[in-house]
Amino acid sequence: MSSKFVIKGGNRLTGKVKIGGAKNSALKLMAAALLTEEPTTLTNVPIITDVTIMAAVLERLGVVVSYSGPDTVDIKPGNSLYAEAPYELVSQMRASIIVLGPLLARLGRARVAMPGGCNIGSRKIDMHIRGLEALGARIEVGHGFIEAVSEKLAGSKIALDYPSVGATENLLMAATLAKGVTTIDNVAREPEIVDLANFLNKMGAKIEGAGTPTMRIEGVGSLHGVEYAVMPDRIEAGTLLVAGAITGGDVVIKDAIPKHLELVISKLKNTGATVTISGNKEIRVKGGSEINPIDIATLPYPGFPTDLQTQFMALLSIAHGTSIITENIFENRFMFVNELNRMGSDIRTEGRHAIIKGISKLMGAPVTAPDLRGGAALAVAGLAAEGVTEVLDVYHIDRGYQNFEHKLKAIGADIERIGEKEPSNALKVVGNR
Ligand code: UD1
Repeated sequence: MSSKFVIKGGNRLTGKVKIGGAKNSALKLMAAALLTEEPTTLTNVPIITDVTIMAAVLERLGVVVSYSGPDTVDIKPGNSLYAEAPYELVSQMRASIIVLGPLLARLGRARVAMPGGCNIGSRKIDMHIRGLEALGARIEVGHGFIEAVSEKLAGSKIALDYPSVGATENLLMAATLAKGVTTIDNVAREPEIVDLANFLNKMGAKIEGAGTPTMRIEGVGSLHGVEYAVMPDRIEAGTLLVAGAITGGDVVIKDAIPKHLELVISKLKNTGATVTISGNKEIRVKGGSEINPIDIATLPYPGFPTDLQTQFMALLSIAHGTSIITENIFENRFMFVNELNRMGSDIRTEGRHAIIKGISKLMGAPVTAPDLRGGAALAVAGLAAEGVTEVLDVYHIDRGYQNFEHKLKAIGADIERIGEKEPSNALKVVGNR
């Protein structure tokens, strides 16, 4: 049986809490390490289930992955890689599709199972495929696999229909070893893209324009291994800021990058919280005496992140008035609403809109995490609820938050995990580590 969190709500969170490395960067940097036969060392890696799954994917490709410290992962790709990422691993995490570009660039072929992963929408990969075709790959999709072959990728001009994070990353990685220059228009501008470009440039790639809508990549003959620290996780930081605000607490987030959270901080201030930035790595949130209703629409960066939409909905569920949240990125990101309503909230969804009528208090209840961010939001709601909240299926939360309950406990939350943290299925596939 999956473990669960038991949370006694009502404690005001106070104290300092350190942010770990970003899940959504670490996974891509691990895949990018495939682009060279030389060893790479990543530090500030969050030890979460999704990282374990990516490590298992790399091992199945013939890479030696080991841990030389609590947050340090050594990746030794060597020169004889397999080109196939199997279904039993890819189905556990959609982000595994990110090995497609690096494998193709390095080996001239790749066979990757069609992804499964977080149950938050259809999450298509058409732009990944069209972009790789523009670089000269021949791609066939069938029997549950994507098969790509190419003699030598060649630089090209690509324009994405939409600034997809995953498509931008796959194409960026493939283009680093392509012959000639690639320009990609309408790319994603998320900080994780900039982190990946910085990492690739350190490996010897020639990338310009990361963080802007157009990137220019001049292909190079080969890349080399490096040591690199993963950027801080802005979504973990945002989640803990909301936890501070919803409990009327006083919490300092350490080792975050405030610039990555500008809009999030501004929205938090609009709810009545006081947010101050000290130095360039600490953010302090003090919950207000009451929570103001606000409207939020999720958008690609620098817009409001879809990965923090659920946590903000938990906060707004106890605002004084009605808020509207519009989810523009993923169609199924309201799955946790029914669970939150079991805690007494008054939220109605209509298509991509959620209408949140603030109530005075949430009531503790048994609820089930439907996905990673929905699960985190239910736990955050439990911190402010009257009585006991049990959050079931915590394995969803473990995919993306390292030591979630320990970090919350350290700043005063009454939260316990009941049952063992399950080892990921990935470990069962490749053996224990
Ligand atoms: C990444 C993040 C995820 C975050 C999301 C948006 C990782 C591991 N995950 O997901 O946490 O919520 O960015 O910030 O980094 N789409 C297409 N065709 C494509 C690709 C995408 O239609 O070829 C659509 C998707 O179905 C989705 C939207 O574009 O509706 C956004 O997807 P994308 O930006 O690619 O997100 P991910 O990379 O999957």
